[in-house]
Amino acid sequence: MAPISTSPFLRALPKVTIVLAGVIVLFLMYYRSIPSPRCHPPPKGVTRHTNTSQKKTSKPVVLLWFWPDDKQFDFQLCKDLNINSCHLTDDRSLYSVANAVVIFHKAIKDDLSNLPTTPRPKFQRWIWFNMDPPTSTRKIPGIEDFFNLTLNYRRDADIPARWQLTVKKQIDKEFELPEKYLLVCWIVNANNLNTSTEARYSYYRELAKHIKVNIFDSSSAKNLKGENYFITISKCKFFLSFEDSVHPDYITDTFNGPLSAGTVPIALGPPRRNYENFFPSTSFIHINDFSGPFALAEYLLEVDEDNEAYMNYFQWRRFYNVRRHFNEENQEFAHAVCQACRHIVLTNEFRVVRDLYKWYLI
Ligand SMILES: *[C@@H]1O[C@H](CO)[C@@H](O)[C@H](O)[C@H]1NC(C)=O
Ligand SMILES: *[C@@H]1O[C@H](CO)[C@@H](O)[C@H](O)[C@H]1NC(C)=O
Ligand SMILES: *[C@@H]1O[C@H](CO)[C@@H](O)[C@H](O)[C@H]1NC(C)=O
Repeated sequence: MAPISTSPFLRALPKVTIVLAGVIVLFLMYYRSIPSPRCHPPPKGVTRHTNTSQKKTSKPVVLLWFWPDDKQFDFQLCKDLNINSCHLTDDRSLYSVANAVVIFHKAIKDDLSNLPTTPRPKFQRWIWFNMDPPTSTRKIPGIEDFFNLTLNYRRDADIPARWQLTVKKQIDKEFELPEKYLLVCWIVNANNLNTSTEARYSYYRELAKHIKVNIFDSSSAKNLKGENYFITISKCKFFLSFEDSVHPDYITDTFNGPLSAGTVPIALGPPRRNYENFFPSTSFIHINDFSGPFALAEYLLEVDEDNEAYMNYFQWRRFYNVRRHFNEENQEFAHAVCQACRHIVLTNEFRVVRDLYKWYLI
């Protein structure tokens, strides 16, 4: 018999097959033994720390560098606004771990000597905080490009701060009007009434010739704070919500006061359509709706006699909630600072305000 000529490859074939089979079996055994990657990840809500003081430090730290106008308030106030997402502090020793530092513009010294001097950690963001309109904002040279975020009443600020209406979940019943004893009221520093040349005082002096305006002197009355402020306003049918200067978006608590107290605000400030960016058009009267103080006075006297016309100013209340602003002296800046706390957890994006004054002072 002629020897079957076989190639070395064919002769090795059985051995190769056995080795291959072995490898496959071993592989399968190994594969079954490793935990499947599809098995459940640890549940999300469970954190390693159960100690609450440890939890606190795991929240982003927001450091308030200056107390605005030296008005110290309780950070717990933010919880009233359902804001509890950061660890707010005024403790400067936390600077190096602070995710954000809120810096109140007015408090900065001209030579910048009271700003943080240690280098800024990479992750840290500085927030420029100013609630004054451009005309009363001091230009401090050298801080134009210091900041990462702006906190201000303007809509185009990174963190806009204002009291806003919220939509009701269900349409409400008719608004229950507080009892009214007075027609037109104004809370203002009475020392300026006869002399100030500000637009709001000039307008008032003309208006007062045609209709009685009840003045509550803000310079003397301590009891115009807190609850008393809202009670006082609620007794008036109309309230002069006259801003001290006129700027886009500069609509302050002097408007929110009557709106939340159940009184019709009479707006002097930016144009009506700017108010309508925030509030229903039928919730207020604007001085520009009239040719002048005399026409406004005539209209107010007319509506005083017409209950249906007056009640139309409260129809919006069936659809929106309005909130009383914090009104204690020391709480003036609390709402805005809380907004910084809310914002800082929302986004982490890198940002630099290139020229602060070009944006704000124009
Ligand atoms: C929680 O942790 C802090 C600091 O890590 C410690 O001082 C405190 O005693 C702890 N509290 C409890 C209830 O374990
Ligand atoms: C302002 O003028 C009115 C009327 O002219 C006067 O009754 C009032 O006392 C004056 N008020 C002040 C603070 O000067
Ligand atoms: C914040 O702004 C500063 C100064 O312009 C810049 O150097 C820094 O990188 C910015 N940081 C962040 C986190 O955006």
